[in-house]
Amino acid sequence: MAAFGTVFMPHMAFTTFENNHWNEATIVASDSIQLHPGAHVLHYSSTCFEGLKAFKHEDGSVHVFRMDQNLNRFDQSSRLLSLPDIDQAQVSKMILDIVEQYSADIPEPPGSMYIRPTHIGTEAAIGKAAAPSISSMLYVLISPVGDYFAGGSKPLRVLLDETGMRCAPHMGMIKSGGNYASALGPILAAKRDVQADQILFCPNGDVQETGAANFLLIDGNEIITKALDSSFLHGVTRNSILTLAADLGMKVTETQLSVDELLTRAAKPNVEAALSGTAAVLTSVGTLIHNGKEHAVGTGEHGPTTQKLRQALNDIQWGKAPDTHNWLTRV
Ligand code: COI
Repeated sequence: MAAFGTVFMPHMAFTTFENNHWNEATIVASDSIQLHPGAHVLHYSSTCFEGLKAFKHEDGSVHVFRMDQNLNRFDQSSRLLSLPDIDQAQVSKMILDIVEQYSADIPEPPGSMYIRPTHIGTEAAIGKAAAPSISSMLYVLISPVGDYFAGGSKPLRVLLDETGMRCAPHMGMIKSGGNYASALGPILAAKRDVQADQILFCPNGDVQETGAANFLLIDGNEIITKALDSSFLHGVTRNSILTLAADLGMKVTETQLSVDELLTRAAKPNVEAALSGTAAVLTSVGTLIHNGKEHAVGTGEHGPTTQKLRQALNDIQWGKAPDTHNWLTRV
């Protein structure tokens, strides 16, 4: 299968904000937007996006997973970047319309249709370095996908970085392109220098997140992850996994986790670690690399609890278990 997110359906849902209101959404060709080279987004990074998925069930019905949560975050990201407020009802209809149009192209599980709503400031005004764009464009691209991590089934090697930062601390909870761009340098260096798959940003020893996914530690019957603050992305998958862990009788601990504590716990045989995200789903971390030393997490292999939680999530997404939390919206 093609690399994650490189194939797009020929059309997308599209709208613009002008003169203080959102225009009616339309369906346009996915490669058709026109942008002035002076557009605010191209100079001052007024851009945010979302990532969510639609799944095809065995009976042929199509369901979008946790659309309300992604729309709330999209709304919040837009506000925190001083982009026009989105109209959640409009964006939800845009998502459902474009997914419905291409429902025949949704891959069977374990594949899905990845949905990428994107909001950008379009005003051509390069003097506005300290002022918001008064116009914007919002589109919903869709892309049939399989596994995010190429080579998929091997537990990941993750470098713990205590000096770098993924992004400015108050920006972490915003799903904005600049955060991903600023993490690229350290990620490339970690791949090159220690053959890491990902980098886990732990500024001053505070275990935060990787470039594109949240980090979860599983110690026996307890699941531990950083408590929500503005420094990292509030993952919808993170929240789903914590909810399912509680359903399974696990203790859920949202707290500050230090690198020292992480390495101490990782040395125990029944400890597991995983990355969570819409794209990553729940992917095992087998090795932590810290100050030139490699530390296996537990056995260093896929852990049974990680597998169980991933399965519980997939079962709901794929319609194989009851949707007890009302996470699915039927298209
Ligand atoms: C997601 O998990 O949806 C993400 O946004 C991560 C990524 C592909 C940038």
